[in-house]
Amino acid sequence: MANSLATVTITGAGGQIGYALLFRIASGQLLGPDTAVRLRLLEIPQGLRSAEGAALELQDSAFPLLQSVDVTDDAAGAFDGANVGLLVGSRPRGPGMERGDLLAANGAIFAPQGAAINAGAADDIRIVVVGNPANTNAFIASAHAPDVPRERFTALTRLDHNRALGQLSEALHAPVSQLRDVSIWGNHSATQFPDIAHATAGGRPVVELLEEQLGADAAREWIRDVFIPRVARRGAEIIEVRGSSSVASAASATIDHVRDWVSGTTHGWTSAALPSDGSYGVPDGLVSSFPVQSIDGQWRIVQGLELGAFARERIDASVAELIEEREAVKALGLLG
Ligand code: NAD
Ligand code: LMR
Repeated sequence: MANSLATVTITGAGGQIGYALLFRIASGQLLGPDTAVRLRLLEIPQGLRSAEGAALELQDSAFPLLQSVDVTDDAAGAFDGANVGLLVGSRPRGPGMERGDLLAANGAIFAPQGAAINAGAADDIRIVVVGNPANTNAFIASAHAPDVPRERFTALTRLDHNRALGQLSEALHAPVSQLRDVSIWGNHSATQFPDIAHATAGGRPVVELLEEQLGADAAREWIRDVFIPRVARRGAEIIEVRGSSSVASAASATIDHVRDWVSGTTHGWTSAALPSDGSYGVPDGLVSSFPVQSIDGQWRIVQGLELGAFARERIDASVAELIEEREAVKALGLLG
């Protein structure tokens, strides 16, 4: 029997990712087998029927851990007492768009939601923003929640992290379970820096294994010209091949992010976008992806990693894009 109860609010719950998330949360994959869940499904009026349909299916699934499901278009009610907020609701990009093109369309969603979180969420609220451009949307929401510690506002780069693991697993013929300490730095955009300088496979440095397999020059070229762009542009590849943006992998990464945040990381480090504390020269407060561990329910940026000139240049480029996005939303009046 469950010995605790949590309220989980999902925005955009009537959308694609929402549908892929709800059943996994209700089955206990987000918060574990000892925590019963109360689901709050927030939608805009046009999305309510779809969310209501999902709620009917949740009922039909008879999940033992699912205590209640509420569907609403009222942000204040949806976040009242919430322990976890999955901020998914927003428009996805289509073919030929960059995620930053969504700033004006989606940014405005996150100011009122930040205010609703500030007004009513539980003291231990944890937020992950999935809706794009995710880092800057998290920055906007946090700016409207002055009473909530800023580190509770995170953005999803776990999908990029998982994509990097998938690519390495294929290249090295190594199971994902043997891979450790890959890092995603910067923005959830094409400028992100997927970094394998510290990664290992079965305890051996990944770079060394690639050099053995391909030779030193070809390994360097593979990392720079194949691996990094493949991971950084995977979202666009999915849109091109599927005809719409990633859904199940995004939901799965969202579950991974919150599960690890709540329960702790056990296999080396992972990646998440968090408000910078100035680590690695990333300006304070900017929501940027870092290598992180979750310890005692809090994300901690992995410290003391040496960054070569190439890494520094890539991280600086992605951070410069985040600064541009911050200035753009400031100019749009979205920071209040
Ligand atoms: P979708 O269009 O299927 O669903 C979005 C839902 O959000 C819709 O039902 C819509 O009615 C709802 N919505 C819009 N405005 C809202 C608001 N103010 N409040 C509550 N709900 C609102 O889209 P999707 O495929 O589920 O994708 C959702 C977002 O996630 C997109 O922005 C997409 O780009 C992003 N995404 C991010 C990642 C990541 O790794 N960070 C991965 C995949 C997708
Ligand atoms: C992804 O990375 O798949 C999402 O951010 C969707 C997109 O627009 O790329």
